[in-house]
Amino acid sequence: MTSKESLGLQLGEINAANAAILRDRDQRAVVELDPDHPGFRDVAYRARRNAIADIALRYKPGTPLPTVDYTAEEHDTWRIICDHLLPTQQRLACRAYLEAAANLQLPTQQLPQLRDVSARLEQLSGFRLEPAAGLVDPRVFLCTLGEGIFLSTQYIRHPSAPLYTPEPDIVHELLGHAVTLAHPQLAEINRALGQAAQRTESNEMLEKLGRIYWYTIEFGVLMEGQQPKAYGAGLLSSAGELQRVETVELRPFDLYEMIERSYDVTQYQPFLYCAPSFEEMLIQLQDFLNRWPRIY
Ligand SMILES: [Fe+2]
Repeated sequence: MTSKESLGLQLGEINAANAAILRDRDQRAVVELDPDHPGFRDVAYRARRNAIADIALRYKPGTPLPTVDYTAEEHDTWRIICDHLLPTQQRLACRAYLEAAANLQLPTQQLPQLRDVSARLEQLSGFRLEPAAGLVDPRVFLCTLGEGIFLSTQYIRHPSAPLYTPEPDIVHELLGHAVTLAHPQLAEINRALGQAAQRTESNEMLEKLGRIYWYTIEFGVLMEGQQPKAYGAGLLSSAGELQRVETVELRPFDLYEMIERSYDVTQYQPFLYCAPSFEEMLIQLQDFLNRWPRIY
């Protein structure tokens, strides 16, 4: 595990640039990995990433979600991660997440298909998944949330480092985001944030809204009794980062401070914003987003 473990587990959809998606002359996807990516020297992994990105690029909205024929090795990676992560979640995830996880019932022994998870999600909260080849433009990503759609990658991290990823993969998308989106109230917050993005014209304000997303939907913590518990997808999809909820500096839940506070996607978070309760987090965030961009 390295300090960069946190990177992919967070706002890669919005910020990181560890893997760009290009197209070759035949318009097939070519995923560009950084030299320090665990799969950089693995020709077979890179071909696999290209093939899975290509599936997403060829997807047409409104058609059935494409499936990926996952290999035994990819299922193994998923299983190893579930074995590490789920016990930590039981201890440090907020009640809403654990309830949603029980309802969504993601399989732990094999990698699920987006199509199946999306269908279940739609029954639970009305949210749907659609495939993304890789990093998505922040405005597109957030505005799509406003339509009740979460853009999700379908590939899994390199098998040599199952507890590390420098970019958001299907582990982060499903064990982090899809579970939280299965909770109707958390889904509503995601949708409200997306609708706020739709009302945001300036890039400067969009960046501020992105910080709200980061410090709440990705890295939010709240108190349950005397215990800080995670509701952020970035925390909930990384055993290493989730354990830090008990020791990291917790700052008061202050949305006006969040919008002015930049963050580093390449490191564990040096502090987290902690709401006094689940209900208080929902009320303050919903009110703030309803007024956006007229917040001052
Ligand atoms: Fe994320």
